Amino acid sequence: MPVILAIESSCDETSASVCRDGKILSNHIANQTVHEQYGGVVPELASRAHMQNIVPVVDVALQRAGTSLTDVDAIAFTQAPGLIGSLLVGSQFAKSLALALNKPLIAVHHMQAHVLANLIPEDRPSFPFLCLTVSGGHTQIVLANSPSELKVIGETLDDAAGEAFDKSAKLLGLPYPGGPLIDRYAKEGDPRRFSFAEPQIPELDFSFSGLKTSILYFLQKETKANPDFIRENLADLCASIQERIITILLKKYKRAALQTGITDLCIAGGVSANSGLRNAFLEMCRHNHWKGFVPPFEYCTDNAAMIAITAYHKFLDHQLTPLSVSASARAGWD
Ligand code: KG4
Ligand code: ZN
Repeated sequence: MPVILAIESSCDETSASVCRDGKILSNHIANQTVHEQYGGVVPELASRAHMQNIVPVVDVALQRAGTSLTDVDAIAFTQAPGLIGSLLVGSQFAKSLALALNKPLIAVHHMQAHVLANLIPEDRPSFPFLCLTVSGGHTQIVLANSPSELKVIGETLDDAAGEAFDKSAKLLGLPYPGGPLIDRYAKEGDPRRFSFAEPQIPELDFSFSGLKTSILYFLQKETKANPDFIRENLADLCASIQERIITILLKKYKRAALQTGITDLCIAGGVSANSGLRNAFLEMCRHNHWKGFVPPFEYCTDNAAMIAITAYHKFLDHQLTPLSVSASARAGWD
């Protein structure tokens, strides 16, 4: 019955989670609001906020799980990718704890953890499964053969889906991060009102930078004729932009399912919290008689529970990490 304490600090959320025998007992997340006024995450401020948050966040996670440090069998942390200053706070904290408690250390890749977040709920996919991971920094289709055998079979060539949401929101004058706001306004809008360019990219890869440019030119043209154009059409603009991002994502995801013949499909990452994407994805699965899995909201955006579940499988596999390991901003899988 291994008890794992996991820490996630790759970007602007400080999170800690405790899991016992693969069951999540707590998942505490401290959001950093300091970045809102700058329209994006300021790395130096993120590191400082992690420094302030990390001890209280770990304390709350242990308390909520009804455990203490003496019960913990291993310490897990996000090693890569992310903001290096942010990663260093979590990794140094985890390494210090492992050294002080004389417990094993487990380094976890953030993107692999997003995929394996789908193993947290009781209703979970069977291997092999596919996962569309859509976050602020990544857009990937991953083939999961086992917890330790994950292969990227498609990815974005430029912007991530989350960036497409956030940059579009910025063009509409919405604050950062704009993804959840586009989701909210889109609920009231007509997704067929405006049509934006669809990129023609081969195989299972994606591109979102052209969409941003086409929205920019469209808004420049319309606001020249009517300065109130965005305000008067905000809901329809949000619905149409969201619709285009969803069709780009699901077209490739459907192709991946047909090419591989895999019928257990998941979504993961911050953008998988998008209600339009969740509904369209589940509808696509129903239509094709595939099994669709969407993680609960708290496991979509950055969280330590996904680090804990990944570490649990690594622990069972004896994949422990030496204390000499260093954090890395790089996105590579190995
Ligand atoms: O996975 P995540 O929390 O952090 C990264 O690892 O990047 O993803 C953050 C991204 C942001 O771009 C944010 O705007 C987007 O997820 N996001 C959403 C929604 N909630 C979060 N995008 C669209 N609709 C949402 N409901
Ligand atoms: Zn993430």
